[in-house]
Amino acid sequence: MLPGGTRGLGFALLKCDIALLTKKLFIKTYGCQMNVYDSDRMTDVLAPLGYAPTDMADGADMVILNTCHIREKASEKVFSELGRLRQLKERAADQQGRQVTIAVAGCVAQAEGEEITRRAPWVDIVVGPQTYHRLPELVGKIDPASRNRIIDTDFPEEVKFDFLPGEHAPRGPAAFLSVQEGCDKFCAFCVVPYTRGAEFSRPVRTVLEEAKRLVASGTRELTLLGQNVNAYHGAHDSGKDWTLGRLIRALAEVDGLERIRYTTSHPLDMDDELIAVHGDVPQLMPYLHLPIQSGSNHVLQEMNRRHTSDVYLAVIDKLRAIRPDIAMSGDFIVGFPGESDADFAETLALVSKVGYASAYSFKYSPRPGTPAATSEIQVPESVKSERLESLQQLLNAQQFAFNKGTEGKIVDVLVERAGGRDGQMAGRSPYMQAVNFIGNPDQIGQIVPCRLSEARQNSMTGDIVNLKGAA
Ligand code: SAH
Ligand code: SF4
Ligand code: F3S
Repeated sequence: MLPGGTRGLGFALLKCDIALLTKKLFIKTYGCQMNVYDSDRMTDVLAPLGYAPTDMADGADMVILNTCHIREKASEKVFSELGRLRQLKERAADQQGRQVTIAVAGCVAQAEGEEITRRAPWVDIVVGPQTYHRLPELVGKIDPASRNRIIDTDFPEEVKFDFLPGEHAPRGPAAFLSVQEGCDKFCAFCVVPYTRGAEFSRPVRTVLEEAKRLVASGTRELTLLGQNVNAYHGAHDSGKDWTLGRLIRALAEVDGLERIRYTTSHPLDMDDELIAVHGDVPQLMPYLHLPIQSGSNHVLQEMNRRHTSDVYLAVIDKLRAIRPDIAMSGDFIVGFPGESDADFAETLALVSKVGYASAYSFKYSPRPGTPAATSEIQVPESVKSERLESLQQLLNAQQFAFNKGTEGKIVDVLVERAGGRDGQMAGRSPYMQAVNFIGNPDQIGQIVPCRLSEARQNSMTGDIVNLKGAA
């Protein structure tokens, strides 16, 4: 195979090989935005080996599943997909004499590396979220004759970001940028501290450099990513760490960067500086995803969230005082061990108080290795289902009410792609609403003023307005 054969050869020769041997790489991404970012970076890392991205597994020379371990369903999907990939690999070998490399990356890889190679021995590479910069080296170790399997789920000393290439394919008008990784909070239900490792913030300089490169390649909106992005404390050349608020102010100075967002935040890390930035940095969009998980202080304590519902509500009050139109989003878990009807009623009451523009809600899923999984007071599945249903009814009604409340407003829409119907384009409002309007593909990457004409559950219909005419 090319990678094994070219290791140690000069750069000039490698470039020459690329021209001759373009291979197809298919990456399927599960889970959160950090995985989306990581998948793009895997594409960048493999490009010098001659791999070009494709959007179909069929015909690909390498397939990577970038996996998520957050809930049982997410994990199990991986094994059923691996069953399909086995057939694909066998077909390619039998019918075309072609070797397909199969890799499992991401959080399931980290958590269940050995289990994956046991249950799916046709997998060639298992690589964790902190070691995928080593993919070229790992690909080079594959020996098709011995069907050896390579597992790399280290939490290495080196930082992957230092080894990822500077060059990258354009990411489009709205792109993700990971600035923080891992988590030290250890909520009792959550696998992230185990799959992503300890909290780490990228230095300010590398974040700014990557942001500038993205903007130069056409990106207009950046979403700063981290499992606890507002715990960001990146080293600055001055020798002092910068907070997320300070970083956002610096990003707002980057010419051509029109919009900034960040996700996901923990309520305890919403410091006053960051809240203030929502009031005075116009590029920071009026939308915030701020999960609380439960409205009951008893449940919050058992979850090890380390704050009460009042602390959360106080943060939202402060935000709304300086940015009254801010759209709030959140995450909720129903049926955490020990959650009573009264606890759940407190979640509903909190949701009613906040009024969310959108939110995600999940049934508690016991995850191996987390403290809550072994609790003896698990909530029955039927109760979880009932609670999820009533919570989702309330959240859906709030989302529709939020959308309805924006009808008639003129908002800036960043045009991202063609819409579902003929002549339609699609983009996002400042409040993260999907907006569909009649336009043309030349508008991709532009920010256009749209009058929001009709609210739907998950999107808005809009019409472009000529601002002079509308004023
Ligand atoms: N860092 C973020 C959450 C990352 S995980 C935060 O602290 O808010 C994304 C969401 O998945 C969580 O907010 C939670 O609502 C949900 N989640 C995490 N573990 C879960 C589990 N074991 N069962 C059900 N939902 C879970
Ligand atoms: Fe998971 Fe809690 Fe860390 Fe969020 S803060 S990633 S929910 S442990
Ligand atoms: Fe899933 Fe890992 Fe993200 S568990 S939610 S892919 S950090």
